[in-house]
Amino acid sequence: MHFMATSTGSPLFMKKGKVMERFGNLPDSEGFFGQYGGSFVEPQLRRALDEVAEAYSEAVKDPLFIKELEELHTHFSGRPTPVYFAKRLSEVVGGSEIYFKREDLNHTGSHKINHSLGEVLLAKRMGKKKVIAETGAGQHGVALATAAALTGLDCDIYMGSIDVMKEAPNVSRMKILGAHVISVSDGTQTLNDAVDAAFAAYLKDPVNTMYCIGTVVGPMPFPAMVRDFQSVIGREARQQFLDMTGTLPDAVVACVGGGSNAMGIFSGFLEDDDVKLYGVEPAGKGLKTGKHAATLTLGKVGILHGFKSYVLMDDDGEVLPVYSIASGLDYPGVGPQHSFLKDMGRVVYGTCTDRQAVEAFYVLSRMEGIIPALESSHAVSYAVELAKSEGKGKKVLVNLSGRGDKDIDFVMQHYPLADYEKSVNTQDGYKSFMNKLEAFRR
Ligand SMILES: Cc1ncc(COP(=O)(O)O)c(C=O)c1O
Repeated sequence: MHFMATSTGSPLFMKKGKVMERFGNLPDSEGFFGQYGGSFVEPQLRRALDEVAEAYSEAVKDPLFIKELEELHTHFSGRPTPVYFAKRLSEVVGGSEIYFKREDLNHTGSHKINHSLGEVLLAKRMGKKKVIAETGAGQHGVALATAAALTGLDCDIYMGSIDVMKEAPNVSRMKILGAHVISVSDGTQTLNDAVDAAFAAYLKDPVNTMYCIGTVVGPMPFPAMVRDFQSVIGREARQQFLDMTGTLPDAVVACVGGGSNAMGIFSGFLEDDDVKLYGVEPAGKGLKTGKHAATLTLGKVGILHGFKSYVLMDDDGEVLPVYSIASGLDYPGVGPQHSFLKDMGRVVYGTCTDRQAVEAFYVLSRMEGIIPALESSHAVSYAVELAKSEGKGKKVLVNLSGRGDKDIDFVMQHYPLADYEKSVNTQDGYKSFMNKLEAFRR
């Protein structure tokens, strides 16, 4: 098994497997992955985060902490999530075999529960009374509210007011779980502004609260800590794939918002040179329209929310407004380890438009009976194209980061496809379905 080494030198992650030699052993003690990451924050916040880093470093050396987390994975979240061979989809696409790591089957419907459980157990261990977080699609908010309810902590979730409207079912879920949802109407009223608001709230009371960030971004220790909690995806997937097929996949694909589900699955394969890794960013309405969130594709190196990474900004260094149909992907920054992996050439980052994501949303629903989250649909779309270009005899593993329950009303309202209700049981049926979608796209 492969585990990421962390600056905290976690024996948990090292004792069970070999330490990454080229891409692991990062970040360094200052939180840097090459030139990316670090901690560019005011002293008061730095002190609070150093306390979190110290507590995390201690916690992962404590067998009781690890045992509690692993038991929750098994008995509460439902891990291990399966790897599934999408036979029908593979047949009609007519190229490589397509497999899914089913993170959508986790309790609460996405991979976000993996780090939320870890973060909340840490907050409890540190004696905190309340956890605070931002959320975009509401999946991290729901996962954190769930973990807070489980452990008896108060929970405040900051969410852009546009996302509050768009992701109404998740807002209700958070409220039912006892979380306080604060609608943020600053700026673009989406994820970026929710992060600002959540950091501001954390600074007001770092003694009693802990900021539980929802992805692999932010100042240290968040990028490494969240990645470590998510690395369970890659560990499981690698072993399951070997058990199932006798080989490793030729390619692994994951969508990238901040980058936590991608880092989670990539961490299992980083040292396997023969496994190509692909991250998929949202091209929104098109890369030339300015309405996208393709940070690694079009961003410049800068500092956002206390860490250095690729950032979508203008020539004056002002952060640009971002957009994606998938609320969980519309962030103008990206986890620093992704920036590092891009520069190293270890991961290839591509894009997928809103339209392509919606097509994949319908295709996976009709072909396999799985309704994916719009975020995950970006990875599905890219993987289908990759399967076509790689051709037969290859195997593509996709991280299906979440399920689409939260998106069904939005899709039916804005992308109704009543004309395409016919079943697509055959290759011809699939082709005509895709042709209709193509016409719909134009
Ligand atoms: C289902 C799902 N997948 C992916 C993401 C993107 O986050 P990340 O890039 O951190 O995995 C989100 C964010 O909300 C999500 O809800």
